[in-house]
Amino acid sequence: MLQMLKFHESFKNTCHQVIRSYVDKRKTSIRKILNYKNKVKVTLPDYLVKTYYWAYLSPQNVRLLDHHFVVNTILFGYYRKLQNWFLDDLDPDASVLQPAAVYGDLSQRTHQALSDKGFLHVEDISRIQLANTRRKLKKPKNVAYKVADASDPDGCIVDVVNCFFLLHEVPDDYKERIINSLLDRVAPNGKAVFVDYHQYAMWHPLRPIMSFVYKYLEPYARGLLNKPIKDFAEKRDDFVWDTETCFMGLYQKTTAQRKS
Ligand SMILES: C[S@@+](CC[C@H](N)C(=O)[O-])C[C@H]1O[C@@H](n2cnc3c(N)ncnc32)[C@H](O)[C@@H]1O
Repeated sequence: MLQMLKFHESFKNTCHQVIRSYVDKRKTSIRKILNYKNKVKVTLPDYLVKTYYWAYLSPQNVRLLDHHFVVNTILFGYYRKLQNWFLDDLDPDASVLQPAAVYGDLSQRTHQALSDKGFLHVEDISRIQLANTRRKLKKPKNVAYKVADASDPDGCIVDVVNCFFLLHEVPDDYKERIINSLLDRVAPNGKAVFVDYHQYAMWHPLRPIMSFVYKYLEPYARGLLNKPIKDFAEKRDDFVWDTETCFMGLYQKTTAQRKS
């Protein structure tokens, strides 16, 4: 009996080891596949590969999830409102940086809102996401794409940055680096707009659902609920800050306007 138990234990351990090494190898090859054509060397961060592979890197799911109704459902019907929060104040002649791809039609609407003098820079750390945005934005005029890590401060200087639901998906040290890097890319008198989750009211009807989401699906979101975006910024005094919230505090728009 004791021998059988020992055998069972060692068999279980061997199985775990085999599975673990398969998963590790698969993650490494996924990284290679997704970055194989990048001229710029960008390594996909662990949080993206481990937590969000299914959402942003899996080729089948990218097509499946990239629909207005999917994003709108995830955002409880607020997708248009959250897009318009940014678009309503957009100067048509502005140069705009969208530092990460977004499902649905945010990039198309941003592009359409710009005049011939305006320009849209779309960046993303993942090649597959960038290719997907390129597919959606049919007209090549006044738009550029770049594989880039938003936490890397190198890159074009723009009038407006639109950081849409990126911060809650990254670990806190990354949040800080992304916020600081994006602020560094804002031109004099320009602004960075961060639309993302926020600490909702105590009595919010979606509290049970959001508790589940933050625990199991969005494990890095809480870092954004406990701390204002402004507090991540090293050069916060170079900007005028404003935060608006909606849907009983669930969503925020934080604007950092560079002082002249
Ligand atoms: C903007 S966020 C989430 C947006 C929103 N939830 C949606 O419906 O699409 C998703 C994108 O961020 C990208 N991303 C994640 N970390 C990044 C980083 N450090 N730099 C640039 N892009 C990043 C992912 O590749 C993905 O395309």
